[in-house]
Amino acid sequence: MLEAAKQLLTPSRRSDVPSFIVMDVMAAAALKEAQGTRVVHMEVGQPAAPAPRTAIAAAQAALAHGRLRYTESLGIPSLRARIARHYGETYGLSLDPGRVAVTTGSSGGFILAFLSLFEPGDRVALANPGYPPYRHILSALGCEPVLIETTAETRWALTGKALIAEHRRKPLQGLVVASPANPTGTMIEADNLARLIAVAEAEGIRVISDEIYHGLDYAFPAETAANLSERAVVINSFSKYFCMTGWRIGWMVVPENLVRTIDRLQGNLAISVPTLAQVAAEAAFDGRDEMEAVKHGYEENRRILSDGLPKAGLDKFLPVDGAFYLYADISRFSGDSLDFAKRMLNEAGVAATPGIDFDPVNGHNFLRFCYAGSAAEMHEAVERIGNWLKR
Ligand SMILES: Cc1ncc(COP(=O)(O)O)c(C=O)c1O
Repeated sequence: MLEAAKQLLTPSRRSDVPSFIVMDVMAAAALKEAQGTRVVHMEVGQPAAPAPRTAIAAAQAALAHGRLRYTESLGIPSLRARIARHYGETYGLSLDPGRVAVTTGSSGGFILAFLSLFEPGDRVALANPGYPPYRHILSALGCEPVLIETTAETRWALTGKALIAEHRRKPLQGLVVASPANPTGTMIEADNLARLIAVAEAEGIRVISDEIYHGLDYAFPAETAANLSERAVVINSFSKYFCMTGWRIGWMVVPENLVRTIDRLQGNLAISVPTLAQVAAEAAFDGRDEMEAVKHGYEENRRILSDGLPKAGLDKFLPVDGAFYLYADISRFSGDSLDFAKRMLNEAGVAATPGIDFDPVNGHNFLRFCYAGSAAEMHEAVERIGNWLKR
C-alpha cells in the first residue's frame, strides 16, 4: 500500500490505549449466560440498584415538558448550588457554588482536570494498583502516567515518602489520589491525606482527588480534599453512591483560578452536560434515604464476603474500608489472575476481574470482587468458590 494511503488508515499513536480487561470478562460471562449457565456477576464495578426514585421522577417530568436545551457549560446553577450545599451537609465545608463544575461522569472530569492542569510530557503520579483509565487518559493526552508501587503494609495508599522519592528521581507535576480506592476498597485517613497533599503541594505537585466512592465509607468517614486544600481539584460522580452510572453525570470542585479555564474547555469540548441527567442529579440529593438503604446492603455484603471468603479458601485480603470492592491475593492458587478468573467463571460460575487490569506489575496475583449485588448472590458466590477451590 502507498505510504500516504497507509497513513490515512493509521490511528494516532497516543490513541493506542489498552482496553479495559473487565469488559472482556463481562463479555465472556454474558456468553456463558446465553448458553444457559448461571453466573454470579462480581466483575463490573456498578450498583445493581436503580437511581433514586426522586431522580427518575424529575427526569420523567423534564421529558414530559419536552424541551431539553443546552445548559450553562459549568452546569445548571441550581444543581451547582445543590452540590455546594452537599459539601456543607457532609463535610462541614462552606463551598462557593461558583467553584463547582458539572461533568459527564467523573470520566469527563478527568479529561477537564488533566487538560487544565498539565502540559504534554508532564509526569503524573498514580498509586499502583489503581483505576486503569487514569493512566490511559493521561497517555492519550500526551502526559506520562508514573505508577508508584504501594503495598498491603500501607493499605495500598501512596505515601509522601514514596512520592518524594519519585519526584527526586525525576520531577512530577501531578498526583492523583483516590480514597476509597478502586480496586482495593481501602481508604486513607484524613490526617494522612492532609499530609500527602501538603507534601505534594510544597513541591509544586498539583493534586487531583478522585472522590467517586465517597458516601460508601464503612471504616471511617471519608474526608474531602476540598477541606484540606483550596488548590486541590476534586472529582466526584453520581455513578456510585447515587447508583446513576448510565446517566453519565459527575462534578468537580476546582480552585477559583481554574473555573474560567474549565468553563471554556467544557464549552468547547461538550457545550454542556446532558440536561436530563443534570435535572435528575439535582433531585437525587432528595433520595438519600433510599441510597442509605442500598449502602447498608453493601455493608452486609462486605460482612458476608469478609467472613465467607476465608472459609472458602481465599483468606488473603485487607479489611475493606469503603467502595464495593475486595482485592484478594490468589497467589496460593495461581500466579496468572487472567487464567484463574477464566477458570473460576467457567468452572464455578463466578465472574471477577483479574488484577492485571489494575496493576501491570503484581496484578497477576490478585482478583477484584465487586460486591454491589444482592446478599443472596454473595452467599452463592462464597459457596461456589469454596466448592471449586476444594475440589
Ligand atoms: C475510581 C474510579 N474513578 C472513576 C470512575 C469513572 O466513573 P464515572 O465516569 O461513571 O463517574 C470509576 C468507575 O468505575 C472508578 O472506579
